[in-house]
Amino acid sequence: MKEIKLKSGHTLIIRSVQKDDASNMLHYLKVIGGESDNLLFGPEGVPMTLEQEEKFLESSSNNATFPMFVGLVDQNIVSVINASGSTRERVAHLAEIGISVLKAYWHQGIGRHMMTYLIDHVKKIGTVNTLHLRVRTDNINAISLYQSMGFEIIGTFHHHTRI
Ligand SMILES: CC(C)(COP(=O)(O)OP(=O)(O)OC[C@H]1O[C@@H](n2cnc3c(N)ncnc32)[C@H](O)[C@@H]1OP(=O)(O)O)[C@@H](O)C(=O)NCCC(=O)NCCS
Repeated sequence: MKEIKLKSGHTLIIRSVQKDDASNMLHYLKVIGGESDNLLFGPEGVPMTLEQEEKFLESSSNNATFPMFVGLVDQNIVSVINASGSTRERVAHLAEIGISVLKAYWHQGIGRHMMTYLIDHVKKIGTVNTLHLRVRTDNINAISLYQSMGFEIIGTFHHHTRI
């Protein structure tokens, strides 16, 4: 858990996701899905019932190798970051990052704080040594964030996403 004072004066709390975040999370995913075409879903959010989401978050909260963290301001989720991957031995050193920040909270450093928190955690656990991600070529904000943190472009996947 980490508490950070934002440029706006708000306090950002970053912590591991927990089962009780399910309702807050389902709402967050609908809002964020409607705010940008840069995620894998739109305003419909994810097709999960509250019970399914609770189970999913509970298993994420127990998964140190492939964790999910929430960023909270005034107890509301304003950002989510996760690292996902396979436990198959030959690729167990890889994890893919997914990150989002609510539009109203962009450009306050939240994305960078969430990335730093995740990277520090992954280093501490030690199982994963390579983080990768996919980003649309027109997602300038995200690309600048990733490049400024040392990520490099390894290729372009044409016709990846259908909006
Ligand atoms: C991409 C995203 C996570 C960035 O979050 P954020 O909280 O606004 O990012 P930060 O405020 O921490 O900015 C971090 C860095 O990103 C870059 N950046 C952010 N906004 C930028 C902009 N408008 N122009 C250029 N660079 C920008 C800068 O390098 C910035 O660093 P600096 O503030 O030290 O200059 C956020 O815009 C988002 O959730 N977008 C929608 C979902 C999405 O695209 N997710 C990623 C899918 S791959």
